[in-house]
Amino acid sequence: MADLQLTDHVPREADDGVWLACIECGESFAPFDDVRYTCDDCDGLLEVRYADLPTWEDFEDEGRGVWRYHETLPFEEGVSLPEGDTPLHRAPGIEDEVGVESLRVKHEGMNPTGSFKDRGMTVGVRVAQAVGVDRLACASTGNTSAALAAYGARGRMETLVLLPAGKVAAGKIAQAALHNARILEVDGNFDQCLDIVQDLAQRGEAYLLNSLNPFRLEGQKTIGLEIMEEHYADYGEYPDRIVLPVGNAGNTAALYKCFRELVKAGAITEDQVPKLTGVQAEGAAPMVEAIEEGNDETRRWEDVETIATAIRIGNPVNAPKALPGIRETGGTAVAVSDEEITDAQRSLAGEGVGVEPASAASVAGLRKLRSAGEIDSDERVVCLTTGHLLKDPDAAAKAGRKPEPVPNDTDAILEHIDDRSSVAETVRRQASKAADSPLIPLVAGGLGAAYLYRKLRSKK
Ligand code: F0G
Repeated sequence: MADLQLTDHVPREADDGVWLACIECGESFAPFDDVRYTCDDCDGLLEVRYADLPTWEDFEDEGRGVWRYHETLPFEEGVSLPEGDTPLHRAPGIEDEVGVESLRVKHEGMNPTGSFKDRGMTVGVRVAQAVGVDRLACASTGNTSAALAAYGARGRMETLVLLPAGKVAAGKIAQAALHNARILEVDGNFDQCLDIVQDLAQRGEAYLLNSLNPFRLEGQKTIGLEIMEEHYADYGEYPDRIVLPVGNAGNTAALYKCFRELVKAGAITEDQVPKLTGVQAEGAAPMVEAIEEGNDETRRWEDVETIATAIRIGNPVNAPKALPGIRETGGTAVAVSDEEITDAQRSLAGEGVGVEPASAASVAGLRKLRSAGEIDSDERVVCLTTGHLLKDPDAAAKAGRKPEPVPNDTDAILEHIDDRSSVAETVRRQASKAADSPLIPLVAGGLGAAYLYRKLRSKK
């Protein structure tokens, strides 16, 4: 079992109070001397550690977005577009329907490339500059590749993205293409793409910017910081629970790290840590399986399928960081069907919040756990929606109302739409009110007199 305890010991490998620690064997490494993604000794996952951890006052007067929290990050500033500062929507319709004390929706689809990945890339690409690489690479279900392509372009670096052929939503491929990434379509699934890109990175052919890279997760921690600050400002309390979609479990790991650091800094107490609640699609649910069976590791699912292509993942690489996060915070994990995901996507759209299918999994999970009585009615809940509606236009069109062909003629269209709108009623009322108004003759008379006066004067 991974050791995620933050201690006061600062190893001699620390550079300006920052170092990398292996979560399995505890070995420490200098942060930027070499390129490394996992432990040299045991291949365990690495975590970025700091000698000093900031608290709320340190963020005041620091602007908005990811870099507001630079005191929790390895650099003062990054390659920025800028990112973060996403809305924490209210969703009164869903809140009423599921019956919780409050529901907020943190819409990460409002980041520059339309997903939370931007938060990780602004830090990750900055680190790539620090270690001095010229080629970036990732495997992706789509959003990581869109973000890497944009931030790579901004950082003037070559980018290589490996995508599972035929399984990436149109909007994401369009982004990677226009930002000029080399798109390598692999005849395989996401997990196989990640195996290959890890191979390439190990051979020194590219700098890996999947969430296996511990610096990516540093940027993604700021989702948690924004949620905590805004929720507290609105309610005087932190949320009881954060519900999020899970694929590679990077966000789950990042949020847990955010909360461990806040506790260590004394910014919050242990019992103020929100319960991390992960949601996966039924066809790709190795994390749910591990939570339900009480396992410390996930089993790799070879065949995965879901409409939520962003989380069509069978081997979540961050599971060793994320499973303790779910367990230690008192959270849980649940699997939802594609139908439940689409229903939730429609419900969010009904609140004006447009998301891609994977994002809607969080609301589908909330619904399911609330019906099962696993989430209480007195809880304050935040659902994370991770990607924008336009990422997957095909899924949106399928889930939404269909266009209706009509003749090119106003009366025919009126007949087609059949029931009259209340707008028409309002317009009619306004027209008849105006006709009855005693002001009309007065105004008309006044205008007439002014006209006559000007005419007479001009004759003089
Ligand atoms: N939601 C969306 C929209 C995503 O794109 C992803 C991951 C997740 C949720 C899952 O987040 O991996 O931190 O648990 N997408 C990756 C990609 C895998 O390649 O874009 P996670």
